[in-house]
Amino acid sequence: KEVKLWGGRFEESVTDAVERFTESISYDKQLYKHDIRGSRAHATMLAKQGLMSVDERDSILEGLDQIERQIESGDFVWRTDREDVHMNIEAALIDMIGEPAKKLHTARSRNDQVLTDFRLWCRDAIDAILDAIKYLQVSMVTLALKNEGLIVPGYTHLQRAQPVLLQHLLLAFVEQLERDAGRLSDCRVRLNFSPLGACALAGTGLPIDRFMTAEALGFTGPLRNSIDAVSDRDFALEFLSANAITAIHLSRLGEEWVLWASEEFGFITPNDSVSTGSSIMPQKKNPDPMELVRGKSARVIGDLVTTLTLCKGLPLAYNRDLQEDKEPVFDSVKTILGMLEVSAEFAQNISFNRERIEKALPAGYLDATTLADYLVKKGIPFRTGHDIVGKSVALCVTKKCCLQDLSLDELRSISPVFEEDVYEFLGAENAINKFCSYGSTGAACVATQIEYWVNKLQIN
Ligand code: ARG
Repeated sequence: KEVKLWGGRFEESVTDAVERFTESISYDKQLYKHDIRGSRAHATMLAKQGLMSVDERDSILEGLDQIERQIESGDFVWRTDREDVHMNIEAALIDMIGEPAKKLHTARSRNDQVLTDFRLWCRDAIDAILDAIKYLQVSMVTLALKNEGLIVPGYTHLQRAQPVLLQHLLLAFVEQLERDAGRLSDCRVRLNFSPLGACALAGTGLPIDRFMTAEALGFTGPLRNSIDAVSDRDFALEFLSANAITAIHLSRLGEEWVLWASEEFGFITPNDSVSTGSSIMPQKKNPDPMELVRGKSARVIGDLVTTLTLCKGLPLAYNRDLQEDKEPVFDSVKTILGMLEVSAEFAQNISFNRERIEKALPAGYLDATTLADYLVKKGIPFRTGHDIVGKSVALCVTKKCCLQDLSLDELRSISPVFEEDVYEFLGAENAINKFCSYGSTGAACVATQIEYWVNKLQIN
């Protein structure tokens, strides 16, 4: 067995079980690019500070380039006995270039190294998720543009409530996604500080320049406190929280599509390209992708809870428990990217069943609240108007008709305030035309919202 990089004081090597149990190379090799990037910056700084020669630096940089190429071509051999990505790369560099490589770990610990890698990785992941969110937003706005003017029932308690423009409803999801992106961007700002040079926990007595490495790696600056730098995982928790909230939004979107695709609603028809069938029931066409979006949100929540639980109760500074922080983050990112991508494809592959929706509109007294507003406009206190409309609805229920089917005489038998113009307020279409408050479902307000998003997302 190879002597470990820390082998000096050890007389025995670890058992196979311990080696298998403690390794992280099986998953943290994903950090290789960021690990190599961190090492390049570190070696460059060490040379500038006189802690290695320029020749030593150059042979390290060349060796790292070569290792990166080997990893990318699949020729690099990852070794479990070298535990993690940091030691795999450092040991391979020593094998490759010899003595100069032994200077690379000067004024550096795996504790600050792993966090440097991880923060860089998360930063890239945030950028990828931001792109995916924008792509879904564009898909939703494009879907809205294709369905201008379509009125759908709006629900509360999953009971018919008020009519809304489909565009308005689709843009509600776009708004949620915008805040999801905002949370990620905020997280990115707080995350973007460099732990490198914090070393094990206390910093170093060697004359390093943490500002230089921070800048080389695109960080805003070095973290101020070396103990905090190697202990903290709140950047990961914040990232996982932001993903969990996004996942919940996508899950709710999924639920909406699943409902709407049901025979009972029948408001949308997904294309075959985003549907799956049944192995036994020949007639089935299921919206599985959106069901799985709903389902996979569970993992993203779990990833957050796992990491919160992991960090709870850990003393300062680094503890090996923290190695468990990576898999949940990797899983969260992979899952949320898949959810966003599939949600966008689904939005690009559904059509609205106008006839079915129009047929559905008269049911459920979607215009009742507009009728109460009508009475307010006639000078009736809202609470009284609410009661009058309630009685009108009760009459409709007995007569099995809609509010607009009641004659003026019938309406006036409930309240003499009703006049001929009441019919301009009844029916879903009339009701929609009455909405005028800021942010409402009125056509003009929705057009303003559409314009806002078309400009913001640069859709043409
Ligand atoms: N693989 C470790 C992790 O992911 C790197 C840091 C190990 N540090 C240590 N002192 N054992 O956390």
